[in-house]
Amino acid sequence: MGYPHKSHPRETPVLSRHFGDTDARTLAGWRQRGGYRALEQALGQTPAEVVATVKESGLRGRGGAGFPTGLKWSFMKPGDGKPHYLCCNADESEPGTFKDREIMRWTPHALVEGCAIGAYAIGAETAYIYVRGEFTEPLQRLTDAVREAYDEGVLGARAMGSGTRLDIIVHKGAGAYICGEETALMNSLEGRRGVPRIKPPFPAVAGLFGQPTTINNVETLAAVPPMPLPRKPLAFASAIAFSRICAPSTNSPRM
Ligand SMILES: Cc1cc2nc3c(=O)[nH]c(=O)nc-3n(C[C@H](O)[C@H](O)[C@H](O)COP(=O)(O)O)c2cc1C
Repeated sequence: MGYPHKSHPRETPVLSRHFGDTDARTLAGWRQRGGYRALEQALGQTPAEVVATVKESGLRGRGGAGFPTGLKWSFMKPGDGKPHYLCCNADESEPGTFKDREIMRWTPHALVEGCAIGAYAIGAETAYIYVRGEFTEPLQRLTDAVREAYDEGVLGARAMGSGTRLDIIVHKGAGAYICGEETALMNSLEGRRGVPRIKPPFPAVAGLFGQPTTINNVETLAAVPPMPLPRKPLAFASAIAFSRICAPSTNSPRM
């Protein structure tokens, strides 16, 4: 694992624009680069408004299926009296694929911020990040970032000084390709054998610990903070700006 290549002059890097910049790994450095502003704005809105922004952006899941992220989040019903969970799929076991690994290595706070926004939007107090067991350096970076976020009050009982509780738990997987499948990942998180579950029920109905759960890929969640929030009055303009930097086939930003 070394330093990344420089971008081509005609590229507009979004998620990878701070790759190679070691200062961006720290919370102070992330804040200097505009980090945690989106979370602050999101916490000032209702969960439904945050979901609407993500829907409008056209963001699609980067875990493989390209499922619309805002639509997935809208399946969760905050305030239904049940505990909700967000799972971040950082298992990345596809041979030769290291996009999620690089996000966690270089910009761990982008993922922490994306998880915090996602958890708030779906009414979850707890987000689990399930990291592939072999990813030793990314695991360390992410653990450090989460610890810093707690120390600075970004996470915890009053996240960013709001009345919202947001917890993130980083979980090290044992290194099994199948645990990248969403329901196998949930079994593994629960301490069970990592085998897929029969669907339905889908995770939004009965997921982690049998409770409503949303699962998203690392790149999907890290792509959420760069979306300008709040939704109004910038919503339309921001969706257009965002789509300009997106790959047309997936509506997701190129790394
Ligand atoms: C065998 C198998 C392995 C998978 N491995 C991964 C993986 O390593 N990382 C990942 O994000 N999604 C993986 N997926 C897809 C997840 O089940 C799930 O759809 C995805 O994490 C949802 O995130 P998204 O909506 O942000 O794309 C895998 C699916 C299957 C069937």
